[in-house]
Amino acid sequence: MSQPHKDKDHWSAQSYSAAASFVPKLTQKVLQYLDPQPTDRVLDLGCGDAKFTGNYLHSVAEVYGVDASASLIASANQDYGSSKARFTVLDCRYLEQDIEAVSGVWDKVVSNAALHWILRDSSTRVNTLRACFSALKTGGAFVFEMGGAGNVAEVHTALMSALLHQGLSIHQAQEASPWFFPSDVWMRKTLEDIGFIVEVLEVEYRPTKLTTGDEGGLRGWVKLMGASMLGVLEDASKREAALEQVCEVLSTIVTRIEDGSEWLGYVRLRGVARKP
Ligand SMILES: C[S@@+](CC[C@H](N)C(=O)[O-])C[C@H]1O[C@@H](n2cnc3c(N)ncnc32)[C@H](O)[C@@H]1O
Repeated sequence: MSQPHKDKDHWSAQSYSAAASFVPKLTQKVLQYLDPQPTDRVLDLGCGDAKFTGNYLHSVAEVYGVDASASLIASANQDYGSSKARFTVLDCRYLEQDIEAVSGVWDKVVSNAALHWILRDSSTRVNTLRACFSALKTGGAFVFEMGGAGNVAEVHTALMSALLHQGLSIHQAQEASPWFFPSDVWMRKTLEDIGFIVEVLEVEYRPTKLTTGDEGGLRGWVKLMGASMLGVLEDASKREAALEQVCEVLSTIVTRIEDGSEWLGYVRLRGVARKP
């Protein structure tokens, strides 16, 4: 199947760093599961600006990073590109079409904080996970961390409500959501049906402190992560009103009274699945 359309690129390295710099940093456990080795050839799905990749790049032989955002891939190549690290624009919904990715030469396929975006589309979801299986050598490991069921439920709900308030139907608001946050039960069954041996699968409720500064905080997070949801409103004044409402509705929910810090209820789904 060919790629039907290109989605608008809402990402930039600057806004990602301002609103979500904690994402590539809060990765000790997934890096521990990745267990990088000097001979490893690694395929990094949804690598973004490669700040996460930079955490393990020095310990492996080769990295091929792929991401749908041209802006983030440009930043990845500028900051981390080398003879052993290549970064390419690729919509991972169609991972099976990338001959290099699915060549079966990779010791590890890794993905941090990206699969809940990549797997959003139910029609391509299982194909992408099958392509991860094809990508690996026999004995290779698929290591991932992503949003699990209930991830950022407060902001997800507030975004939906704001769209309803601007006149969308519930169905339209649900369709606009860019995320798929699966349960561990769904993930285990799907991976096992494909042929993986699931060695680790864990769910962690991890309240996460948001960044501060002009482009950060709750507002910066919603503007960046909720961009495609707000983007379904054609009128700029409606988008601004929806953003304002999300921030106002959530202000008392996410703000801690002792120091004014803002926190979201992240739920992480983390796993290691091996190709036998
Ligand atoms: C929260 S960022 C994580 C980036 C990086 N892995 C990290 O840990 O910092 C989510 C990434 O998923 C990418 N993404 C979303 N949908 C995608 C798709 N269909 N194919 C490839 N990448 C996608 C975005 O462009 C973005 O870089």
